[in-house]
Amino acid sequence: MLRRLHHEQPASFEFTPANLAWAKGQITKYPEGRQASAIIPLLWRAQEQEGWLSRPAIEHVADMLGLAYIRALEVATFYFMFQLQPVGSVAHIQICGTTSCMICGAEDLIRVCREKIAAQPHQLSADGKFSWEEVECLGACTNAPMAQIGKDYYEDLTAESLSTLLDDMAAGMVPVPGPQNGRYASEPLSGLTSLKEYEKGRAKHNGSVQLAVDIGDSVKRIDGTEVPLLTPWLGKSSAAKAPAKKAAPAAKPAKADKPAAKAEVKADAKPANAKKPRAMKAPRKGGADDLKMIKGVGPKLEQMLHGMGFFHFDQVAAWSEAELAWVDDNLEGFKGRASRDGWIDQAKLLAEGGQTEFSKRVKKGEVY
Ligand code: FES
Repeated sequence: MLRRLHHEQPASFEFTPANLAWAKGQITKYPEGRQASAIIPLLWRAQEQEGWLSRPAIEHVADMLGLAYIRALEVATFYFMFQLQPVGSVAHIQICGTTSCMICGAEDLIRVCREKIAAQPHQLSADGKFSWEEVECLGACTNAPMAQIGKDYYEDLTAESLSTLLDDMAAGMVPVPGPQNGRYASEPLSGLTSLKEYEKGRAKHNGSVQLAVDIGDSVKRIDGTEVPLLTPWLGKSSAAKAPAKKAAPAAKPAKADKPAAKAEVKADAKPANAKKPRAMKAPRKGGADDLKMIKGVGPKLEQMLHGMGFFHFDQVAAWSEAELAWVDDNLEGFKGRASRDGWIDQAKLLAEGGQTEFSKRVKKGEVY
């Protein structure tokens, strides 16, 4: 299946403040030079925020990770879990159409989707509430046919039960996930044949369903108000239990993780005596240095630095602490990036004609 970007795109994308904080925390999970590894969680978060992945969202994530846009586009278009077009505001229905489900009636479920939602997959229903698609095996074959709706599985479906589910969801209700035919889990349809002694006194729902009911986010998008991302590696592990606002002390640098922790604190700190560094109107005669040799500077950040009047490694190398704080605070959308990635130290080496591990890889064409 050809996966293309949607023909209509929003003008821009920004993470909400809560999601941005979460995304920054994710990036700190990875060692220096490996920040690109955070691409899937960040794209996923962007999708959770908007419902689908727009081009500006993909490019925004690429900028955050210092990646060429094509790298992020490759990931977003490769994985089917990323929706490249708007989805229903209430739910996106993913019908499994693989062998077990197909044999047990997936085609009937797809017919319901065509009738009640839209004639073609990935189209919005007339009221914009639903969309649907056929997907490959979701690993619930013993409860075929089934569908993933939002974050949960609805199993043992029939055309009638799926139709009722859609009506309930359209009316603002969230039906209990799991088997829809009275089965408890994936025991034989005729009932338990063994371990019957455990049947009495068991919980109302099987473990997966109970968790889904307890969390209650089957068709709710993550909006940043959930339990904050835990980043105990940035400091004492007490961050694990602290609510978002009180987590700040735990984010103080631990000795072992000093650079990352320092950057995290700086990213959110208000620079007290920030001072604008001396800027230039244009690059010197020989042309600007390739600032993308500095790890953390992607094409967009390089453009931003040019706009601020910084074209050369020696300019960056000469920034004082106060000037670094000013730059950090003025990198709209990338605040804290300059200290987090140690731009000054990298620039010093590059200005002297040396190489960093990163710049060597850029030269070899291994990274962008
Ligand atoms: S075939 Fe549908 S879940 Fe496996």
